[in-house]
Amino acid sequence: MKNSLGSFELNNIYQGDCIELMKNIPESSVDLIFADPPYNLQLNNELYRPNQTKVEAVNDEWDKFNSFEEYDEFSKKWLNECRRILKDTGSIWVIGTYHNIFRLGTIMQNLGFWILNDIIWIKTNPMPNFKGTRFNNAHETLIWAAKSKNSKYTFHYHSLKIFNDDLQMRSDWLIPICQGEERIKVNGKKAHSTQKPEELLYRIIISTSNPDDIVFDPFTGSGTTLAVAKKLGRKFLGFEKDETYVKISKERLEKIKPLEKDLIEIKVEKRLPRIPFGSLVEKGIIEVGETLYSKDLKHQAIVQADGSIVFEKLVGSIHKVSAFILNKERNNGWDFWYVMRDNKLVSINDLRLKYYRECFDVDYFFINDLKKSTLSDAKFSNDKNSSNEMFDTNNGK
Ligand SMILES: C[S@@+](CC[C@H](N)C(=O)[O-])C[C@H]1O[C@@H](n2cnc3c(N)ncnc32)[C@H](O)[C@@H]1O
Repeated sequence: MKNSLGSFELNNIYQGDCIELMKNIPESSVDLIFADPPYNLQLNNELYRPNQTKVEAVNDEWDKFNSFEEYDEFSKKWLNECRRILKDTGSIWVIGTYHNIFRLGTIMQNLGFWILNDIIWIKTNPMPNFKGTRFNNAHETLIWAAKSKNSKYTFHYHSLKIFNDDLQMRSDWLIPICQGEERIKVNGKKAHSTQKPEELLYRIIISTSNPDDIVFDPFTGSGTTLAVAKKLGRKFLGFEKDETYVKISKERLEKIKPLEKDLIEIKVEKRLPRIPFGSLVEKGIIEVGETLYSKDLKHQAIVQADGSIVFEKLVGSIHKVSAFILNKERNNGWDFWYVMRDNKLVSINDLRLKYYRECFDVDYFFINDLKKSTLSDAKFSNDKNSSNEMFDTNNGK
């Protein structure tokens, strides 16, 4: 497996200016970018709490720019490089506050990125507004964007829905700021003023990349993105200007043990290929001339050689004929029709799933694709050889 990217070794951090370093990464080679750039916070004075203790705010040299123009020039350069190295199937996340996120969003759109969402990271434990002159600033904004409008980017919709107790994942994420054990300290002081919580990166990496993908962070800071990428079995690369932060990140990464491959595989997104009713007829699983029944046995139709079915004087697909019977515009015929096997009704959908299982390379079925009857069918076990009998019964006729 290739373990380098341009002149860089993967799974590594390099010290230097990301704009210069990125020039050595080939075009369209990175799957996911997470960028937490300088905020350009414009803090002029030191900040004190009411009890006169100093607030450890972001007042670092790396965050100082002389003007908005200078900040914009810098942002255009690194975002332009990010777009160049991003694969068409990739996506980028950029995080910021009200100080910079609007400028970054405009630049991204001007460069051709296609914004997919903005996520509000709601901090459950924000730092108070000590002066009491403004609202408490309790969130940061993340822009999630594809390389261009028609990009086919990675998004594990179903995984995220399961992650969120079967509810669509929303764009407001409640996550505490980095604290406690997770917060890296040197001599009792925060090692990095803006260390992001691992939870935030976990959600991003799980939802918008695949195991073995290349995750890139141009501003690694304390190495949060890379640490989570390593844990989740992704390849990673990071750049950071400050030597001390590079050292801290390297030490942090050494302690991370990747999760087992089988545990990080995105199983629920492996959707079944579409099998038409005609395939079951073709294969003889449902025979030409056989009768299909509605569950209450009130309606019957005869299967034709071309996969159509005849109901009284009507001919059509399993879907259209069932819709007609139900007096509906549309209906899923797979859920409506049954065949007789050993004097029992068997759903044609169950027969289709048996076919999938035996003739396709499907290791897992997404539970949403199955009906309860199929799940409780003892023959539907993990042992692939155990379910052949269903097809050997000569259709029970
Ligand atoms: C907001 S912090 C990133 C924090 C990081 N996400 C974390 O969780 O620790 C921005 C980082 O970018 C670095 N930086 C600033 N300008 C840079 C540049 N031109 N190239 C590379 N790194 C840079 C700073 O030293 C700082 O550590």
